[in-house]
Amino acid sequence: SPQPTPGDGPRYIAHRGLSARAPENTLAAVQAAHAAGCRWVELDVQLLGDGTPVLWHDAGVKRCSNGRGKLFRFDAASAARLDVGAWFGEQFRGERMATLEAMLALLKRLDMGLNLELKVTRGRNAIELVKAALPPTLEALAPEKLIVSSFDRHALTAARALETNPDRLRLGVLDDKAPKRWWRETERLSAYSLHLDWRKLKVKRAREIADEEIKLFCYTANDPVAFDKLWEWGVDGVISDDPVRFIEHAGQQQA
Ligand code: G3P
Ligand code: MG
Repeated sequence: SPQPTPGDGPRYIAHRGLSARAPENTLAAVQAAHAAGCRWVELDVQLLGDGTPVLWHDAGVKRCSNGRGKLFRFDAASAARLDVGAWFGEQFRGERMATLEAMLALLKRLDMGLNLELKVTRGRNAIELVKAALPPTLEALAPEKLIVSSFDRHALTAARALETNPDRLRLGVLDDKAPKRWWRETERLSAYSLHLDWRKLKVKRAREIADEEIKLFCYTANDPVAFDKLWEWGVDGVISDDPVRFIEHAGQQQA
């Protein structure tokens, strides 16, 4: 099968950091991704109750920490007391919830690319999230090292209003599957990419998107063999819990 050729933009993106091998959305997961040779990570950003942006996926803290309760019930001090590593593995005990500030410093130091997902959970304010998370991110990372995505259209609209130049802010429209007139949203937002669920993608729609000036990324795929057909359809990149498997698979096919 044809091999993905490296070009402009990411090919392999570590989902929530290297979440197959380290606790998701942590500094450790980004360090693990870097150590494994991944150049891009996808991370979810939300706000604590005091407005501090942190990398966190769920609306609550239970699944990925030793605490319980909604994320917005925590402030910077109480969130910093949570252990967010031990649930994944003993060797990660003592890991702390990553603030966006600390994460951006790490990404900058490692020269990594970031797909920042603006995660709007039920009842949370999309505009507030954009206002708190986007300026420091734009300040820290070069435009070609950043893609800001969201399922939430209000968040994307607010992001585009904050930085109207599409060359200075690459936006990604997240959806489970592309709506029939998928270009309406991407054009309205001057988006850089579409991010779709790989299991719901059909060849016809994939080729239609591949024919346009828009990138297509698929989440969350962990089987590089099953994904081979998607490369053939013109998909540009994969968001995976373990992109190392994809990199190795591509290497084996080239050998
Ligand atoms: O950005 C792709 C993917 O992360 C979207 O789903 O729930 O894993 O954040 P989720
Ligand atoms: Mg995500």
